[in-house]
Amino acid sequence: MPEKVLVTREIPDAGLRVLEPFDVTVLHERPPERGELLEAVRGVSGILSTATEKVDSEVMDTAGESLKVVANMAVGYDNVEVEAAEERDVLVTNTPGVLDETTADVAFMLLLAAARRLGEGERLLRAGRWEWWGPKQLMGQDVWGKKLGIVGFGRIGQSVARRARGFGMEILYHNRSRKPEAEAEFGARRMDLEGLLETADFISIHTPLTDETHHLIGVPELEKMKPEAVLVNTSRGPVVDEAALADALAKKRIFAAGLDVYENEPEVDPKLLELENVVLAPHIGSASVETRERMAVLAAENIAAVLSGDEPKTPVGG
Ligand code: NAP
Ligand code: GLV
Repeated sequence: MPEKVLVTREIPDAGLRVLEPFDVTVLHERPPERGELLEAVRGVSGILSTATEKVDSEVMDTAGESLKVVANMAVGYDNVEVEAAEERDVLVTNTPGVLDETTADVAFMLLLAAARRLGEGERLLRAGRWEWWGPKQLMGQDVWGKKLGIVGFGRIGQSVARRARGFGMEILYHNRSRKPEAEAEFGARRMDLEGLLETADFISIHTPLTDETHHLIGVPELEKMKPEAVLVNTSRGPVVDEAALADALAKKRIFAAGLDVYENEPEVDPKLLELENVVLAPHIGSASVETRERMAVLAAENIAAVLSGDEPKTPVGG
């Protein structure tokens, strides 16, 4: 009897093809309700989850002793209780490395759009309110030659630095550990968070969501930024205090923000929705055809490896 695998969302076919040797159930295009998820995991050996499902001890216990692997189709795995998995000898995997460039594209897209007021301009035009070219109309911030502060200088942070160098930007970074190779490659300068916030013209967040990074950017941090600063967040919503950011943007404490992630997705602080100086994307960092296919295949390969008695390609913490 083939082992049972639950795929919690509809994923690209290439991922499902890898899982053909198993007895696979695919749930929906939409995220499953909690009850549906608990019902569907009973007796499975592998769960291919996404960032929208909380995979905690209750889910693992409901799956039962058959469960061997949780493969998250995301590089971030704050939705999976890794300690609970370790206690139950369940392997957890994620999808690092296959989405760096695609996510960095979105970070840079948000940076440019927020700096040059693209959303505001498009809304004006579409509403039929664009009456003339104006010498003082929609003046934004230059990107070329400015200072970019990258918070979390890992895979995606460094891919953003690569783009920024093409725009003649100076790279500052704040990271838990020093990154000498990246310093050499990008001419990057390591700073403490406070110094970076005070110095950078653009700040882009790329840490994982952990207990240490929850509300890493809140009222005191926003107050340290320059009035012309642009903040970009493509990491996880709770790394930034969303209400504090909305307040800072409303008061023009900082110039603008570009966001791909939110504290309570898919809800967005209603104050942000009213503001002109924020560009809002619906968590599309890795959403290209090629990258979503790579993520699905890697997650599926991790499940196939574990269920065949092999080492997974990308275990969490590995
Ligand atoms: P990564 O390579 O692990 O880089 C994360 C970096 O953050 C590491 O260099 C790490 O430092 C640093 N860091 C961790 N905790 C820190 C702290 N408290 N203070 C300062 N630096 C800290 O991860 P990645 O692949 O670049 O992905 C980063 C995150 O992006 C993911 O966890 C995910 O949440 C998010 N993401 C979002 C999307 C999207 O669709 N918007 C797409 C992909 C990823 P060390 O090197 O010292 O460990
Ligand atoms: C997406 O948000 C990811 O973490 O891969």
